[in-house]
This record gives sequence, C-alpha cells and structure tokens, in this order.
Amino acid sequence: MVDVLLGLQWGDEGKGKIVDYLAASYDIVARFQGGPNAGHTLYLGDKKYVLHTIPSGVFRTNVLNIIGNGVVIDPTILCKEIDQLSTSGIEFLSRLYIARKAHLILPTHRLMDTVMEAAKGEGKIGSTLKGIGPTYTDKIARHGLRIGDIFLADFKERYNKLKAAHLRMASAYDAVDFPLEEEERNWMQAIDRLKKLQFVNSAYFINDAIKAGKKILAEGAQGSMLDIDYGTYPFVTSSNTITSGVCNGLGIAPNKIGEVIGITKAYCTRVGGGPFPTELEDETGASIRKAGGEFGATTGRPRRCGWIDIPQLKYTIMINGVTQLVMTKADVLDDFDEIQAASAYLVDGKATEELPFDMTANCPSPIYTSYKGWKTDLTAITNYADFPLPLREYIETLENQLEIKFNIISVGPGREQLVLRKQSALA
Ligand code: GDP
Ligand code: IMO
Ligand code: MG
Repeated sequence: MVDVLLGLQWGDEGKGKIVDYLAASYDIVARFQGGPNAGHTLYLGDKKYVLHTIPSGVFRTNVLNIIGNGVVIDPTILCKEIDQLSTSGIEFLSRLYIARKAHLILPTHRLMDTVMEAAKGEGKIGSTLKGIGPTYTDKIARHGLRIGDIFLADFKERYNKLKAAHLRMASAYDAVDFPLEEEERNWMQAIDRLKKLQFVNSAYFINDAIKAGKKILAEGAQGSMLDIDYGTYPFVTSSNTITSGVCNGLGIAPNKIGEVIGITKAYCTRVGGGPFPTELEDETGASIRKAGGEFGATTGRPRRCGWIDIPQLKYTIMINGVTQLVMTKADVLDDFDEIQAASAYLVDGKATEELPFDMTANCPSPIYTSYKGWKTDLTAITNYADFPLPLREYIETLENQLEIKFNIISVGPGREQLVLRKQSALA
C-alpha cells in the first residue's frame, strides 16, 4: 500500500520535517508532483537542509527515494541539491531513483515563466519562477521533454526545437534580463551528470514494491489549496497536489492508497498572490510571521499569515480523503493571549461552510471562534497529557469540527520535537 502525506493549506505546512520523521517506518519515499518550487525543510541536529526535488526520506539510510513521473525536474537545481547533500556527508545516491517519464524544466521554461508573470502585472500569481507552469503546459500540449529522453540520439535536436519555440513565444512579451547562454551551459553539464543516476519506470518500480509488501510513503509538495483543479484558481500551481495526483504521479491505482495523512499548521500561511480569507494584515499577523520564521524556504519571501480556517480544512480533508491529521508549529502560538479559528464564513449575509466558486472575486469573511492562549513553552513537551489545558481544548475542538484526530502535534523544527497521540503515529 501507498500512504500519502500532503499539505491541507497553501503549502509550507512542515511536510519535510514530518516525512523525515515518518520515513523511519517506510521502505520507500516518493515525490509524485511539483518540482523545485517546493522547499521542504528539515533539521538533523543543528544542521538545516532544504530539499526541492529530492524526497525527504534521504536521511534514513534504509529508505529508497523516488522522484516520480509526475514531478518536473530542473537538472541544474537537482545537481545542486545532490552536491549540497553530498558535501554534508549524506550518502544517498545509491538509494535515489528517477522516473524516466518525469518532465524536464528547460532554461527557457524559466524564461517563459518570468516573461509571462511580468505581463500579468497586478494580477501576478507570485510564482517561484522555477518554470513549473510552462513545463506542465508543454507536457499537456504534448511537446515536452522527459528526463528519459536525455539518452536519445537526437536529444539535442529535440531540445533546440523546443527552445526555439519558447524563444518565439517569449519574443511576444516584454524582454527581461535572462542569462540564457550561461544557464544553458550549466543545464547541459547537469544533464551529463544526471546520466549516471538510476532511472526507472516508476509504475513498474512502485507496483513491484507494493507486490513485495514494501511500505511506501508518497510525499506531497505545495498544498491542496494550490491544486490546479481544486485550489484558488488561477492563484495555484500547475499540478494536482491532492491524493488523486499520487495515482497519476507514480502510476498506481486508487485502491493501492492506504492512509492519507493531512498536515496543517496550528494557524495558516500563504506565499504569493491570491485569496486568503483568514489573513491578518496587522500586528498579530506580523507576530505570527516573526515567531514562526515565516519566510519562504525556496524564495525567502515573507509568508502571509493568518488564523486556521475550518471550512477550508474541511474542504481539503474531503477532496483528499484524509484519514489522519498532523498539526505543526503549535509552539509558534506559545505567547499569544488569544487564538482564533474561522469556524464558518459569512457569504451574502449568511453563515456557510462552503468555499465559493471564485474566492478571488468573493473572498468570504470568516466567522471566528476565540480560544484561550496556553502561554506555555511547548518545545520540550513529548507527551500529550503534558500539554496545557487550553491547547488540548483547541486541538480537541478542532478535531470535533474536522471529525478526524490529530495523531502528531509538532512543537518545534527538530526531528524529535513532536508529540505522538498514540504509541504508533501510524494507523
Ligand atoms: P514544507 O514545504 O511543508 O516542508 O514546509 P517548509 O519547510 O517550507 O516550512 C516549514 C518551516 O517550519 C520550516 O522552516 C521548518 O523547519 C519549520 N517547522 C516545521 N515544523 C515546525 C514546528 O512544529 N515548529 C516550528 N517552530 N517550526 C517548524
Ligand atoms: P512546498 O512544497 C508554498 C506557490 C507560489 C505561487 C504559486 C504558484 O514548499 O509547500 P509556481 O512556482 O508553482 O508557479 O507558484 O504557488 N507555491 C508554493 N507556496 N509552498 C510551496 O511548496 C509552493 N510551491 C508553489 O508562491 O503563489
Ligand atoms: Mg516549503
């Protein structure tokens, strides 16, 4: 079976840390979508690692890691990640597998991302500009390049053809500064290096592993509210970030999905443009940003901060089929006198829990419930029973509303800074 861990909000829920922790109980960790727009942070002792393309299971020496066919790969960024991990003494290349069908991000995909985003002006998405949208566009338009293509005799010709098409398209937009020659040189060198890695047909690889009784964890990137179909379109990313994306992104059938572990912060953040009903554009929002170190792991941009949003979580729990919850960053709210949670929305004067069709045009007003702050340092707590009562009340009220338990509550960025609700956090 394949268990899934994915974000229930707008990304950056702490997936990297929790996957690294859970990976100890799995044989394989697999990324199924997204690309280097992701930034998954985890700590081993004091050392911080930020992974963009490589799955967060690499730090567990018995775990195999797969970059699935639903992922889009920038060879330059992947090589940098490999170098950073290798320099830190992490031995993982023998445990890393790449799906041949994963699509390639070309330097000109990044150029396209840049010129198209600039043309959007005020309505810009706030893309990470890693070429994600244009690469998935080419995949769907059926003229993309896959990483398995790098072994074809005419790869260079195919590359030049696609690059020329991109340059023709880019010429219709205002010019931007983009060091194409240098980027291209680095990219080609990276391609040569990647040829030495292990490539697989991920559908066979994963299904053979399932047959052999291996335990697999699929690691989501971004968050459910950034899903191309179900997120706050058009302020979304270009892949299916939800559970259904696991089937397409790894080549497994829906009946092979086991547990779906949904992860949320104790509050909510979003980076980039787009609607965010519970956003706090005030002192409180700034305090959360400061206490939570809410700055993008990929771009360094300040993240927008707000309260947790129950209608939003109910929606993403529904579309993902979530069976277990994880709450991260509970410690970030340690100093707050009062905490709020949106329990419903006010739309056209009526209370509702349904997210409107167009959240951008009609951003719903939250109806808040207040909770007493716990005013306690949580960071060294390891038992649920030792949590202060106001925190337990907060957690248990959310559970009643969401109708699912929080099996793990994370109280700091460190690997061991978490509280398991039951002995085995896995069902
Ligand atoms: P991801 O993209 O979902 O993996 O999340 P990011 O790595 O982008 O952002 C999460 C940030 O929160 C990282 O800096 C983590 O080190 C940090 N983090 C994760 N869990 C906790 C927690 O429980 N408490 C605190 N204070 N920080 C956490
Ligand atoms: P992880 O995996 C948070 C956001 C961008 C932008 C929109 C589209 O670390 O949670 P794109 O680069 O895909 O064209 O950007 O999606 N975004 C993320 N926000 N966490 C992420 O990944 C994100 N990946 C993309 O900020 O608003
Ligand atoms: Mg992140």
